[in-house]
Amino acid sequence: MSAFDSVEWTRITDLIDLLSDGECHSGEQLGLSLAISRAGVWKYIKKIEQLGVCIESIKGKGYKLKNGLHLLDLKKIGGLLTPLAKDNIAALDLFSIINSTNTYLLNQKNIRGKVCLAELQTEGRGRRGRQWVSPFGRNIYLSIGWSFESGVSAAQGLSLAVGVAIVEVLNQYQINGLYLKWPNDVVIKNSESDEYKKLAGILIELRGDVSGDCDLIIGVGLNFEMEIAHGIDQPWISLSQVSEHKLPDRNTVVAELISKIIQLLVGYERHTFAHYRESWGAVNIHMHKRISTLQGKELIEGVCCGVTDEGALILLKDSGETLIVSGGEISIRGLS
Ligand code: BTN
Repeated sequence: MSAFDSVEWTRITDLIDLLSDGECHSGEQLGLSLAISRAGVWKYIKKIEQLGVCIESIKGKGYKLKNGLHLLDLKKIGGLLTPLAKDNIAALDLFSIINSTNTYLLNQKNIRGKVCLAELQTEGRGRRGRQWVSPFGRNIYLSIGWSFESGVSAAQGLSLAVGVAIVEVLNQYQINGLYLKWPNDVVIKNSESDEYKKLAGILIELRGDVSGDCDLIIGVGLNFEMEIAHGIDQPWISLSQVSEHKLPDRNTVVAELISKIIQLLVGYERHTFAHYRESWGAVNIHMHKRISTLQGKELIEGVCCGVTDEGALILLKDSGETLIVSGGEISIRGLS
């Protein structure tokens, strides 16, 4: 899965740690710290660049990581989890490179309480078969495995509720224009127009019985401090670009997300989406807006009137008829 062996990975992550302060370090100084030659340092700098990490090479001075880079650290994350999360986590795995954190859990047994994080995904997946662009060290790629005893129906509306959990975590950081877009995008709205950019996405994958035990993988991708990305086909934004105050580091945000999502999962079969419906409605970017949705081949227009207790979208058509939309994509058609 990784293009590097374990010795190379150790050197790469040690080198990133040394450069993580964003200061300029000479090749000689780095080589001494890692017990390798200056040529060795250069070789590893090139490998780090292969991961999409920007390193400035300053002639006669050394190397500098633009804006620094603080790697995820399981010890720090573990220490910041709430007691409830700690009690419910069966495993906490962190990979430098993985195909997809969701795929990793999908291939495992007994996934309830297993959490997987990665610095880079080579095959990150989004909804509707889309790719989730996942460069090294700048974002959050998180998957949590869970199970519901009462079958697939217990998971109704869960992806929307996870959106509410993410918004609750991010609200602590004074983010302006934070909204949810049905069904499960976390977006930032421009204060002067109706335009918005995607900040985070949720991909829930299910396996198991319709009526019996059902396993779920809750995947969350959050743009944390990504500045450059290739191949994203929609407007996007990173948390670092919208926070009014200095953000806590990724480890803190990861621990808060895990804690909040586990808290949600523990009570979800009892609460159901009905418990989160009002909170979802309060940050619905399309509330009372004219929107359209593609249902099969038909484009249906109407005014968004919120969501049902199951998380389906309520659309008031021009004819006065109400349409309940439980699948598909919606787009905004200007103000009503
Ligand atoms: C979407 O908005 O399309 C959903 C994006 C979900 C991305 C996350 S990143 C962690 C997890 N692993 C994946 O391969 N996908 C999800």
